[in-house]
Amino acid sequence: MRIGVLTGGGDCPGLNAVIRAVVRKGVATYGHEFVGFRDGWRGPLEGLTKPLGIAEVRGILPRGGTILGSSRTNPFKIDGGVEKIKENLAGLGVDALVAIGGEDTLGVATRLDELGVKVVGVPKTIDNDLNATDYTFGFDTAVNIAMEAIDRLHTTAESHHRTLVVEVMGRHAGWIALHAGIAGGANVILLPERQFDVDQVAQYVEKRFQHQYAPIVVVAEGAQPLDGQMVLHNQELDSFGHVRLGGIGQWLAEQLEARTGKEARTVVLGHIQRGGTPTAFDRVLSTRFGLQAIDAVHEGDFGKMMALRGTDIVRVPLKDGTGELKTVPIERYTEAEVFFGS
Ligand code: F6P
Repeated sequence: MRIGVLTGGGDCPGLNAVIRAVVRKGVATYGHEFVGFRDGWRGPLEGLTKPLGIAEVRGILPRGGTILGSSRTNPFKIDGGVEKIKENLAGLGVDALVAIGGEDTLGVATRLDELGVKVVGVPKTIDNDLNATDYTFGFDTAVNIAMEAIDRLHTTAESHHRTLVVEVMGRHAGWIALHAGIAGGANVILLPERQFDVDQVAQYVEKRFQHQYAPIVVVAEGAQPLDGQMVLHNQELDSFGHVRLGGIGQWLAEQLEARTGKEARTVVLGHIQRGGTPTAFDRVLSTRFGLQAIDAVHEGDFGKMMALRGTDIVRVPLKDGTGELKTVPIERYTEAEVFFGS
């Protein structure tokens, strides 16, 4: 078989480990051939390929990013996009695809599968918000990066008697904030799943200062204050009426400074959380996903997505991984609340 591989959406540590596992097992065990598609769905759409064999995957296991490049191109949003993909796959003699990506990339894979394209999916996102799998690779790496940053921020916050607001990624789900916050010993954790009361956050911060120790507030980029507080403080809103993404940390630091009279600083971790080498957990998970994906292709088990269930890698229908996002359950959040302000 000749198999195409692509990576779509935001990059994520572990993508190269998946590619390596797919190609290594595909060539060595099954004798398949591979073609790399560049930049997500743009690759098959525009016929952008690159060689993909044993030599190309040598040494890429610890490398972040993706050797294939990525994009958020959606062929269903382009006139004649799907026909073009089918035409290009036929022209290149590609029999099947391995699509590695998040909700959008796998959403495209689901629809292509329904239209007869032979495809299997591998879930990835640092956000860990894909429904069908217990964990996605990239998440553990992002959490470790954020945790290390929080560890470092404790000492500088303490030395200057400041509040440190750490903004982490997570537009719709607060998994990174929750795990990094717990692991880093944050004093307040704010998630998109629950609107927060800025006055209460200020009280937690003050309480923490009373203990002579400077507070660390971890806020997910998609966290929102109570509706009235947004209007009251007249922040820059996006087209959905939410505080502009990426700006919540800065906004919160200003509010806390005004309320507590203590200096506050913001650190936006941003894309640092997505860069660099994957942790051991993410390398193992990506590798196991890759091995299972090439088995699925070899067996002709298309329309499936790889998923972690407990400690097992299983195959589930592609559509199970898309649609509803896996957000943080309220019980998980309340577990962490015991540390707030204390
Ligand atoms: O989905 C992964 C993610 O890193 C989110 O956490 C974040 O909100 C978004 O992608 C950022 O996207 P971009 O790289 O396009 O700025």
